[in-house]
Order: sequence, then structure tokens, then C-alpha cells
Amino acid sequence: MNRLANKSQTKATARAGSNIAFIKYWGVADPRINLPLNNSISLTLGALHTTTTVEWDTAGALALDEVTIDGDRVDGKKAERVTQHLDIIRQLASKHHYRARVVSRNNFPMASGIASSASAFAALTVAACAALDLSYDRVKLSAIARRGSGSASRSIFGGYVEWERGNDDTSSVARQLFPGEHWNLRDVVAIISTAEKAVSSASGHMMAITSPFNAARIDSLYTALQEVRAAITMRDLTRLGPLIEQDALAMHGVMMTGKPSLLYWQPGTIEVLQAVRRWREEDGFPVYFTIDAGPNVHLICEPAFERELLKRLNTVSSVRSTVSSGPGEGAELIDQHLF
Ligand code: DP6
Repeated sequence: MNRLANKSQTKATARAGSNIAFIKYWGVADPRINLPLNNSISLTLGALHTTTTVEWDTAGALALDEVTIDGDRVDGKKAERVTQHLDIIRQLASKHHYRARVVSRNNFPMASGIASSASAFAALTVAACAALDLSYDRVKLSAIARRGSGSASRSIFGGYVEWERGNDDTSSVARQLFPGEHWNLRDVVAIISTAEKAVSSASGHMMAITSPFNAARIDSLYTALQEVRAAITMRDLTRLGPLIEQDALAMHGVMMTGKPSLLYWQPGTIEVLQAVRRWREEDGFPVYFTIDAGPNVHLICEPAFERELLKRLNTVSSVRSTVSSGPGEGAELIDQHLF
């Protein structure tokens, strides 16, 4: 069991893994609290993580929060998003006047096209709360992390995680379905582009309801969620794989048919999808895809097929590089501060 609370102090460091969703979070019912339209299920990733140190300035030396990400001081929207999240935590601790120094580091390049906000807001939440002696359990921490980035609610937990839609700020929380040891699945990201996405997920979530396909997707999820839970329970990839592909395609269908239309795919995305289907049809190669709000393709397989998958991806001309990960632990406090 890893740690979530510290002895009395104003500085703490936490590490949290990114996650890949099998049933996606797409669309918000209430954007102020990131209340989603549907439950989502994900796997927390062990090899891709964010480490964040938060030090609260109790002496009033800082006029504003100071945010450093991957060695660069950030301002504008990025810093604002951190400050807004810290505001929620300041309010919980009734320390409205405290400012914080935040130093955050990703062990994967922010420009790799892999979403960093899930791991970033999970690590920020755990470090900022611990440094104010707010000793919350993981469920409560997931509710707080959700306010920073919806998918961050899931990164509070390790392994296989379900974020329940809920009805309000207290009930929309994540819970672990199984620890990572339950099933050692691999996620190999085929990187097609490292460019930052032109339309943020936050704006995309607001547009979901403008697609005529959105309601149909949401309606289909009650059964899909049950099937995904069952496939994970049975460790059955031939059952899980088609379900995760179906929901990734449904989510992108919603994106493409919204107003305005969002098209995150590039030609290379299709090249990988076609290759995966060909490999399965030609020689039953057991690998399945999912895609987040970007052009890169996550390939899910059992560890025994990872080497062969990497070899095959090498022959796909649009794949610039790959990043692999297995299941990871939930967010935890660590002792090595970043400053
Ligand atoms: C497509 O709102 O959590 O990855 O904009 O990075 O904060 P950020 O993302 P978030 O939306 C994630 C959407 C998704 C699907 C998912 O992870 O469930």
C-alpha cells in the first residue's frame, strides 16, 4: 500500500501514472466540475508518469503561484489551470492566502503526443493536499483530481479503474476494479505526430452533445461497460479488444460529427488501424487499438506479443517512434523532492 499522507509539513512530492481508457470519457454534463456524461474504464500506466513537488509559501513571500514544468517556468493558460486547481485545495484547507511553488516533471516528453494532464493533475492533487495536511482517502482525492482534468480522477488509482459518472461533485469518483497484477496488459503507443492538439479535450467535451451520434453512444455504454468489466475480470483480450476498438471509433465518430467537427486523425492513424486489422486477419496476431483525442494509436496486447508488435510497427512508415508501458500503481507520495 503506498502512501498518501505525510507528517506535518508544507512541502510534498507525489508521482502519478498516465492512463489509457478502454471506455472513454467524452462529453461533460457540467463543465464547472467536469461531471462526465458516462462512466469510463482505464488502465493506469506504470512507465509514463509525472512527478510533482508542491511547496506552500506560508510566509507570504510569493505574490502568485509559481509553476515550473519540465524545467520551464510557465505562465498563461497552463499556469492558470494549475492555479485554479490549487484554489480548490486552498479552499478545502481554508488557506486562501497561501501561494505555492509547483515543480513538475514528466518522464515522457510533453510533446510526445501522450496526454500528460491525467498524471499531472493526479500528482498535483496528492502533493498539494499532503503538503497542507489534508489526509483524504483515494476516492476523495479522485474527486478533487477530476476538477483539474477528468481523466486525472482515474490516475489516483493503480491498475484497472472505473470512474463512476455520479450526479454531483461528491459522487463522481473513481474506484479500482483490479490492481495491475491482476492482468499484465501492455500498451504500446505508436506515435504518428508529436504536435500539440489544436482543439483541447476541454472544448471537445463541450461539443460532444452537438453530435447526433452522442446519445446513441451513451445509450450503448451500459452494456459495453458491463462487457468490459467482465472481459477484464476474465483476462480475456479477444473479448476486451473489440469492445475498446468499438468505443474508440464511437468516440471519434462523435468528435467528427459534432458542430464544429473535430478530426484528430491523420493519414498515419489510418495506416496503423489498417495494419492492425490486416495482422489480425492474416495471421491472427492478437493486438487491438484505441485512440485518444489525437492522432497517435495505443496498441493493446499481451506481453508475449510485444516484441513482435514493435518489429511490425517498425515496418509501418508513419510510425515515428513507440512508447511502451504496462500497468502501474496509483498516485503516491515520494521522498525525493524536485527542488
Ligand atoms: C479522449 O479532459 O481528461 O483521453 O484535456 O487532457 O485534461 P485533458 O483530458 P480530459 O479528457 C480525456 C479524454 C480522452 C478519453 C479518456 O481518457 O477517457
